[in-house]
Amino acid sequence: MAVRHFLTLLDFTPEELQQVIERAIELKRMQKARVPHVKFPNYVLGMIFEKASTRTRVSFEAGFAHFGGHAMFLSPRDTQLGRGEPIADSAKVISSMVDIVMIRTFGHDLIEEFAKHSSVPVINALTDKTHPCQLLADMQTYIEHRGSIKGKRVSWVGDGNNMCHSYINAASQFDFELMIACPEGYLPDAELIAANSDRVTLVNDPIAAVRQSDLVVTDTWASMGQEDEKKARIKAFEGYQVNDKLMSYANPDALFMHCLPAYRGMEIDEDTLNAPYSVVWDEAENRLHVQKALMEFLLEQ
Ligand code: CP
Ligand code: NVA
Repeated sequence: MAVRHFLTLLDFTPEELQQVIERAIELKRMQKARVPHVKFPNYVLGMIFEKASTRTRVSFEAGFAHFGGHAMFLSPRDTQLGRGEPIADSAKVISSMVDIVMIRTFGHDLIEEFAKHSSVPVINALTDKTHPCQLLADMQTYIEHRGSIKGKRVSWVGDGNNMCHSYINAASQFDFELMIACPEGYLPDAELIAANSDRVTLVNDPIAAVRQSDLVVTDTWASMGQEDEKKARIKAFEGYQVNDKLMSYANPDALFMHCLPAYRGMEIDEDTLNAPYSVVWDEAENRLHVQKALMEFLLEQ
């Protein structure tokens, strides 16, 4: 059978995504009860990071240690990847020595190229286009707090970025309605919107987006690689902050999520992360559990 990869949420069926999340909930219980699950001793996870990370690195590395495996951090600064060795050559060599690979990079085409030449599963740990691992954690978190997300209304407020794109994919894979409020010039990919027009609605007004919403989500206004645009973006996103006032237009039991890192005074105010509706700390922790379930799924194919 061809090797399976997880480059976007669309690489798995809705049933497989559910299965991964159910297993994540079980692995979380086991981890908290200190039930050993050394399933992959002597296995090696290769972790290629071309961008910074806290949650992704710690969760993958800790998760693979729970499985009894070893996680190897690879930075382009000190590998030949940073000196222009072709992706295909790197993929062939690295995948001949490790059992599974995760990559965080800029261009989505890089992970597609790597996966094409890899003999082991490749996981997208964030590209400029998508961040599917974060969506697994977000969906697990919603399910744990509120049950099924099917048929619910989710609101994305802010930049039409990689996280927003993964929310669009999640809307179709998890069967929910998605309202997106972005300022002009910062909209998500038009083709992706068109392909999901039956369940995704674009608006400019954040209040219109969050009305009757069950989950409100935002992210930084300037993603990694957009540092030079920060000033212009802060201006363009004025009025797009998620705070108590905006949350008051959502359903009374609406939850708030943010993949983190967050910038207080910008996309959120000082109190948003610790407000009663916020589940961001569970959301961050669930990266650990759901990526363990994801790696187990891919390694057991
Ligand atoms: N949410 C997320 O991916 O965080 P890091 O950039 O810290 O990995
Ligand atoms: N959109 C953000 C997400 C960080 C986890 C970025 O790409 O920098």
